Amino acid sequence: MMSGRVLKAFNEQIKEELESAYLYLSMVSYFHSVGFDGMASWMRVQTEEEVGHAMKLFDFISERGGKVELLPISTERHKRWSSPLEVFQAAYAHEQFITGKINELVKIARDENDNAAEIFLQWFVTEQVEEEANTSRVAQALERIGDSGHGLFMMDQKLGERASASGSAEGE
Ligand code: FEO
Repeated sequence: MMSGRVLKAFNEQIKEELESAYLYLSMVSYFHSVGFDGMASWMRVQTEEEVGHAMKLFDFISERGGKVELLPISTERHKRWSSPLEVFQAAYAHEQFITGKINELVKIARDENDNAAEIFLQWFVTEQVEEEANTSRVAQALERIGDSGHGLFMMDQKLGERASASGSAEGE
């Protein structure tokens, strides 16, 4: 059984993950609106991953006999994006924010002597390293590309190759 404090923190993290999905979906919409369908596809896979993260937490709470509380999702971080670089920089900053949230969660699990929760959260700790690296790499590449139409075209093609968790290429 989870303590009230751990349960509350896990429920809040479900909200953070779903908020991440919603944020990335707003980026999918932006990319489609400006014709970068490959980048839209990449971000759509990212959106699906975030829903997967939320569901992992959801299932863990249920398995531990806790009750999932679905909290309201905010659109506060959504913006009128003005360039792919701005989007990926925001995604990277967002992943850094989520890493902080995961670290707080680990600390709470530790304080509450909840070993099962702490071990479960290690997957998220590792995942955040990848999440930060992925978004940061794309942001850096876009920075180098600048306003080059050819560079942006190539980048759009490349990002469109990212496959979803189910193994099928997105954007088909
Ligand atoms: Fe669920 Fe991108 O962190």
